Amino acid sequence: MRGLSILAAACTLSCAAAQTFQRLGGCPDLGCVFPPDQADFLPGQFFDIRLEVHSPVNGSEARVGVPDSDFKFTITKKGSHSISAAKYFKIKEPELERWNFTWYEDLFAQDANQPSLVNVTAKAYRRVALYEPGEYEATLTYYGHEKTVANWHVRDLPTKRRAKNVVLFVGDGMTTNMITAARLMAHRSINGKYMTKMALDKFPILGHQMTHSMDSFITDSANSATALYSGHKTTVNALNVYVDSSEDPFDDPKFENIAEVFRRRYPDGGVGIVSTAFLADATPAGLAAHTSDRGEYDHVISAYYEGLKDYKWTKWNGPDVLLGAGAENFLTSEDSPRDYYNLFSEKGYNVAWNNTALHNAPNDEKLLGVFQTSNLETWLDRNVYQGNLVNQSNYPDGSGRDADDLPGLKDMTLKAIDVLHERHGDDGFFLMSEAASIDKQMHTLDYDRSLGELLELDDTVRATIEKLKSLGELEDTLIIVTADHGHGFDVTGSVDTDYMDAQEDDRSKRNAVGYYHNSGLSQYTVGGPKSLRYSEGVHFPARWDPRYTLHAGVVAFPDHRENYQVHSEGPRTPAIAAKDKKNGYYVNYKDAVTGFLINGTLPVSADQGVHSLTDVPVFAQGPCQELFGGVYNSIDIFFNMAECLGLAETKGKGHSGH
Ligand SMILES: *[C@@H]1O[C@H](CO)[C@@H](O)[C@H](O)[C@H]1NC(C)=O
Ligand SMILES: *[C@@H]1O[C@H](CO)[C@@H](O)[C@H](O)[C@H]1NC(C)=O
Ligand SMILES: *[C@@H]1O[C@H](CO)[C@@H](O)[C@H](O)[C@H]1NC(C)=O
Ligand SMILES: *[C@@H]1O[C@H](CO)[C@@H](O)[C@H](O)[C@H]1NC(C)=O
Ligand SMILES: *[C@@H]1O[C@H](CO)[C@@H](O)[C@H](O)[C@H]1NC(C)=O
Ligand SMILES: *[C@@H]1O[C@H](CO)[C@@H](O)[C@H](O)[C@H]1NC(C)=O
Ligand SMILES: [Zn+2]
Repeated sequence: MRGLSILAAACTLSCAAAQTFQRLGGCPDLGCVFPPDQADFLPGQFFDIRLEVHSPVNGSEARVGVPDSDFKFTITKKGSHSISAAKYFKIKEPELERWNFTWYEDLFAQDANQPSLVNVTAKAYRRVALYEPGEYEATLTYYGHEKTVANWHVRDLPTKRRAKNVVLFVGDGMTTNMITAARLMAHRSINGKYMTKMALDKFPILGHQMTHSMDSFITDSANSATALYSGHKTTVNALNVYVDSSEDPFDDPKFENIAEVFRRRYPDGGVGIVSTAFLADATPAGLAAHTSDRGEYDHVISAYYEGLKDYKWTKWNGPDVLLGAGAENFLTSEDSPRDYYNLFSEKGYNVAWNNTALHNAPNDEKLLGVFQTSNLETWLDRNVYQGNLVNQSNYPDGSGRDADDLPGLKDMTLKAIDVLHERHGDDGFFLMSEAASIDKQMHTLDYDRSLGELLELDDTVRATIEKLKSLGELEDTLIIVTADHGHGFDVTGSVDTDYMDAQEDDRSKRNAVGYYHNSGLSQYTVGGPKSLRYSEGVHFPARWDPRYTLHAGVVAFPDHRENYQVHSEGPRTPAIAAKDKKNGYYVNYKDAVTGFLINGTLPVSADQGVHSLTDVPVFAQGPCQELFGGVYNSIDIFFNMAECLGLAETKGKGHSGH
């Protein structure tokens, strides 16, 4: 009908070719439906629908004519007739919106600064839900007779609640390879047999989840947190929304996450969020925020504080416990005139700024703990190289003093359980606890610090199981330990650091690496207090600086130096900006000086390592543990937790909008 041109037919070829540079992720045609094709839903889960019709003005998809302002959208449940979405959800037909955007079709277009321009007409249906399990077809008809069909699947889940509590541990960036390396550093073995096991090794159920995102096979932590918490795969940087093509980071189609559904279904249930990252970071933010831009930190903190201001789709009134770092986002600043410490305490939260205050806080009241600016200092610095904590000017009150009484992941997690149990002993709770710096230290190629965080997570899991047992809650608690994505890390042998230090040139330094038979045995477990040997208890390396270290690394990196030794003077900076920033990053010659130069494999714009493709492990124990065995998708973690908590809402409601 309107302005359909022959060029539209050519799009089938050119659009299919657009892979890494996409006009709009999840929208291969000129008609876009979000949630997109193959979306899964929890029965009764609130979500928005965004429709867009694209009219490319120029570039390979250019077509003559004006954008379609008369497109139709229908919903069909398999076996029944199709009706307009407005009728189906019993809501008003939304207003037509218009905007335009530009995108680059490939690297050549980007180098030439030749963006393609697209005119857009759009609509959004807000806050709807599908209650009846089954297969649905959502059909957008545009330009007269072109169609985009999204097949939606509302999962048929049992509604009986089987778990009172869920504790979800996220080892950010954690892979099986890292667990293997951490075990080698912390657990003694005799003739190839470990004398002790990690807490993770003792879980009855092991699964693998695939972390790919909707429109890229490598995910970031925002997108993957969204998949784990809401059952929807989206785009890099997005939190609990599908990303539309408009500029506004807050108008994208939203969907409910597990904390929101849990609170809506069980208003007396508790929610806890614990992280070693700054609390505005993606993995904790995924339990509150709804935005296409994870960098909207003030939105994240305000979402913890009051939910979505203009969008009360749940009884969400903030978590009971919120513990982590990132004080800068709670203090008043140019970005945020609000003093969140005051606001939270006016809302009945106790505010703790150090470990002593954390432990002293009453368990029957809400608790906000912010222990320093930035990310929490790593386990290695807090426990082994404490000198690195001096002169950081990171006390969370913004006074510029040092934070010298810091909790770790274990302190925070056990306190969160105390508070949640005290406040919600009858109705149960959902707790997420994140070991964030496994990922953060992997990014900067600081493998010792990363594996220290992993061992701290393992110790926290062990202590959590003991705590739940002592509270009489273990049998009623589903415990899951998983990751949101991996890094391409592995160990291929050992390094004689004395020999490497003694060599003059880079090629002979490499002879310090021993592989196969010459890898030898772990020297990290030698020495240390006798009392810990072979005992079941805390397991960390007896020393971090043995002569023979691990020959460890990742598969993609910036220019850097490597000497395979612990960075005892503080977290590592592998690459630094060129004087002329346009030229990207170069090796930091002050890092790992006794080692050798390794030229980077990533674009020079990368100053650190990046996430990788690997499936990540899932450990589960407790009610519903059997759901977590095998190989499945990241979103299945959400659906399994929701099933176990009985969150599916299938009866009584029919379909409805507001
Ligand atoms: C498309 O049009 C825009 C706006 O006029 C222009 O900036 C851009 O360079 C054009 N792109 C191509 C590929 O022609
Ligand atoms: C793009 O949309 C604007 C209105 O926003 C309209 O004036 C213009 O003609 C459109 N261009 C094309 C090529 O459709
Ligand atoms: C794109 O949209 C902006 C603002 O909505 C408008 O000012 C501009 O003229 C539009 N560009 C084109 C080429 O339609
Ligand atoms: C810990 O916090 C409490 C309460 O804010 C404060 O009184 C105490 O001085 C703090 N301790 C340290 C070591 O900063
Ligand atoms: C900390 O800063 C003070 C004052 O600048 C300085 O005297 C001291 O040496 C510093 N300490 C460390 C461990 O860097
Ligand atoms: C690193 O790359 C530079 C060129 O960018 C080259 O001159 C040098 O030989 C390379 N060094 C190694 C160790 O590969
Ligand atoms: Zn991550």
